Amino acid sequence: MGLFKKKGNWFVPKGQPLTEMDKKILYWQDKGKLVPRRGLILTPGQIEGVRRSGVINTALLDLVAENIHAGMTTNEIDKLVHEYTISHGATPATLGFEGFPKSCCVSINEEVCHGIPSDDVVLEEGDIVNVDVTTILDGYYADASRMYIIGKTTPAKERLVRVAKECLEVGIAACKPYCFVGDIGNAIQEHAHKNGYTVVRDLCGHGVGLKFHEEPEVEHFGKKGTGMLLVPGMVFTIEPMINMGKWQVFIDEENNWTVVTEDEKPSAQWEHTLVMTETGVEILTH
Ligand code: MF3
Ligand code: CO
Ligand code: CO
Repeated sequence: MGLFKKKGNWFVPKGQPLTEMDKKILYWQDKGKLVPRRGLILTPGQIEGVRRSGVINTALLDLVAENIHAGMTTNEIDKLVHEYTISHGATPATLGFEGFPKSCCVSINEEVCHGIPSDDVVLEEGDIVNVDVTTILDGYYADASRMYIIGKTTPAKERLVRVAKECLEVGIAACKPYCFVGDIGNAIQEHAHKNGYTVVRDLCGHGVGLKFHEEPEVEHFGKKGTGMLLVPGMVFTIEPMINMGKWQVFIDEENNWTVVTEDEKPSAQWEHTLVMTETGVEILTH
């Protein structure tokens, strides 16, 4: 028994007829492109599991939308998220993840991501706030985030929040079956730069669904035709972090988690979990 395997992730057991998907993947693999391994392609049943997890995750972000207000602490947001998640038979993925102490991330203004909810942080009028929530239901992970504007903010911050959302949307629009991860990053980068913003390079989207963070790395910048081939059944996030100033970031030394812009100018992020299908991409966290 041998395996038909050339250099790369994809192989077909000897004697097994090639499916249309095998042929397409092997074509790109032979051309030296990065292709997925089989474990990154979810079954319809597994995708349904992520979809159900996504329903709770979306409800959480809706719950935040209904309750977020000036004067609220970020820990109050965390409590809402925690209680809703648990009472729906799910688990917050961030709680205890590599030592992260809370059930969601709340990142304000110049904080890019991984802000830790705290009793000491009070939301103020004009803040732009990212709340990022990941739900585990029956072992399936759904990951999404939104921006929330507290009361009225400046036109500049409002525009950043809007363009960051558009960056996620153009990334999603670039997702076609058998496209490359670099096609997504390229579209996002173009849109950000066209609007005078920069794209954070140190953090990326990721495969998700069966694990919290999985291959592929979904960079929000780059060249078309680079990165991993995206084939039907793959589940991943797109989550561009868009900066008003420079793209450089650092990690807060006090908590070793929170990512902050180096120039302390505002940053905005939106995230969805998606599944590639034969006809296009489906958002699982709508
Ligand atoms: N939800 C984040 C993501 O989009 C990851 C947060 S990990 C944490 O990938 F530990 F900071 F919570
Ligand atoms: Co994510
Ligand atoms: Co997330």
